[in-house]
Amino acid sequence: MDADIPVLTIDGPSGSGKGTISRIVAGRLGWHYLDSGALYRAAGLASSWSGLDFADHAALARRAHDTDIRFRTDGDAEPRVLVDGVDATDDLRTETAGAAASAIAAIPEVRQALFDKQRVFRRPPGLVADGRDMGTVIFPDATFKVFLTASAVQRAERRYKQLNDKGVSVNLDGLLREILARDARDAERAVAPLKPADDAVLIDTTDVPVERVVERVLALLPEHFRR
Ligand code: DC
Repeated sequence: MDADIPVLTIDGPSGSGKGTISRIVAGRLGWHYLDSGALYRAAGLASSWSGLDFADHAALARRAHDTDIRFRTDGDAEPRVLVDGVDATDDLRTETAGAAASAIAAIPEVRQALFDKQRVFRRPPGLVADGRDMGTVIFPDATFKVFLTASAVQRAERRYKQLNDKGVSVNLDGLLREILARDARDAERAVAPLKPADDAVLIDTTDVPVERVVERVLALLPEHFRR
């Protein structure tokens, strides 16, 4: 029974630290990890590869449904993402892929097409699910729910550092503008908007070191889940 498999949802806006925190927490717990944003990014990228018209919702939903998305984990390194058999990890991290993801994510048929692809990640011994609507729509019955926030300026700075470290040259002001635009689009869309679940614990990560956030999240789980 799915209900017996514990799920910890970690939702929040871009740059709130979701990805980093979720991966570390999943590793500490020995649980599976779902990066749902990567599914939206992959579906957006696959739609661009196919030259689809972003106004054709039915075609976008079909492409999202048919896209083969696999995560390849190798030790503690960030997982590689294979889209239709092609390693697209680096392309998926760009702001262009983020913007395409955010655009298709506003389409109900696309969200529906990706629904089952997310639910199947719930496998023993447990799942850490990272995204925007993990606690509200995909796993409303999750055992533990967290919503991470951080100031927009700090989120832009984190993204800037992340991209710079990966050798991608970006402009901080431009990133801040893109982040604010993406926040607005994600929060204002009619379906599954970015918002905390009523039963989520809110954690502001502005000026809080990663390890401290990890401790606060892990402290929400009873002792027997922690190793
Ligand atoms: O977390 P991310 O930056 O990789 O997500 C990329 C986009 O995908 C984000 O702007 C909104 C969308 N998304 C979503 O709508 N629902 C999710 N559960 C995850 C991501």
